[in-house]
Amino acid sequence: MATVIRETPADLHPLDLSRADLWREDQWQEPMRQLRAESPIYYCEDSKFGPYWSVTTYKPIQHIEALPKIFSSSWEYGGITVAGDGIEHLKEGEIPMPMFIAMDPPQHTAQRRTVAPAFGPSEIERMRADTQARTAALIDTLPVGEAFDWVERLSIELTTDMLAILFDFPWENRHNLTRWSDALGDIESFNTLEERQQRLATAFEMGAAFKELWDHKAKNPGKHDLISIMLQSDAMNHMSHEEFMGNLILLIVGGNDTTRNSMSAYAYGLHCFPEERAKLEANHDPDLAVNAMHEIIRWQTPLAHMRRTALEDTELFGHQIRARDKIALWYASANRDESIFPDGDRIIVDRENARRHLAFGYGIHRCVGARVAELQLTTLISEMQKRRLRVNVLAEPERVNASFVHVSPHAGRTRALLTAVTAGPISAR
Ligand code: HEM
Repeated sequence: MATVIRETPADLHPLDLSRADLWREDQWQEPMRQLRAESPIYYCEDSKFGPYWSVTTYKPIQHIEALPKIFSSSWEYGGITVAGDGIEHLKEGEIPMPMFIAMDPPQHTAQRRTVAPAFGPSEIERMRADTQARTAALIDTLPVGEAFDWVERLSIELTTDMLAILFDFPWENRHNLTRWSDALGDIESFNTLEERQQRLATAFEMGAAFKELWDHKAKNPGKHDLISIMLQSDAMNHMSHEEFMGNLILLIVGGNDTTRNSMSAYAYGLHCFPEERAKLEANHDPDLAVNAMHEIIRWQTPLAHMRRTALEDTELFGHQIRARDKIALWYASANRDESIFPDGDRIIVDRENARRHLAFGYGIHRCVGARVAELQLTTLISEMQKRRLRVNVLAEPERVNASFVHVSPHAGRTRALLTAVTAGPISAR
């Protein structure tokens, strides 16, 4: 651990996990390890986002998420990232955009119930064949034996297409979803007035495009798409413009960067652990593909943290928390908690308890789109297996400079080479 502390410049707090550079440089593991071992509930007095608590082990995170009446997600107090300061401390150029991930019951319950059926088991079954066909078709366009950008050609394409399908968004404009999602999921975009204004402009551009879709769907309702579902519900058909934009940001950032990163982690993670990749190449049992999917999501943890705000003075495992304290729940760390996931820094595709990961959160806000993400990643794994293709990563990815959306390699920077798998028997199909 000492290494990180010694190498940290004097003006940077070594245990401030919200520091963007720790994530950009992929240096978050050591401070997290130290906090898990020595101070799993830790008060960081000084950070760019003000003082906040860091919770880095598995059980306290579950505990906090199970008590939404004490530990709020509400946007009014700052919402779900360590960056927010709530409506009392809005900066110039910042307007609150309520979204249901950043609401407490009963409002959260009603809005979540509205969209949840779109991600339920029967919808997943309905989407399965199409997801498989799209994934297969896209893989078949990749240039085997030539260097190309995995993120741009595969991760972004597949997740953008899925999002466009979920919204029934105009297909020819679907890449705007990626652009909006990248810009609006960036918690480092509140630093200057200019950045905040740019962010607002992007949000309004997105809002205008979706308003058009909303008006169209009001006249031509669909059966399955998210906009029609919202339009037909009491909980969501009268949202203010800000809440409309907030919920769209939630659904596009929620569904886009996260799944994209898990697909990039499939390529990068298995490249880092070739012996685990070999297991998947040798054994095409569908259960192993599903387990590997959970394990990749655990190891990657596409959202590094969620945040809660204490609504009252309370005690937390011997620590005195005061009303309005910020509490960051570091899923990235809980998913490497040694007491739950031994050797957690490694991908182990047949890890027994991989599906216990907290990458989708826990409790009433647990990711409503988890099944869609799982379907996409499992399909990718099995379609690559069927084609006996291997991804060789040619250079380290460039990572996002923020502590929220985690290790999203930028498009254009993840060079990969697909090669045919030549070794290993196929034990099942
Ligand atoms: C690997 C991919 C994904 C990861 C890691 C992920 C992660 C998360 C996490 C950590 C939460 C918050 C949980 C909490 O506070 O306890 C969440 C909530 C949410 N996610 Fe995901 N997500 C993924 C994919 C998706 C997809 C594909 C969609 C939809 C298209 C989606 C939509 C949402 C929504 C709407 C919420 C809010 C749920 C609520 O507040 O009740 N996510 N997700």
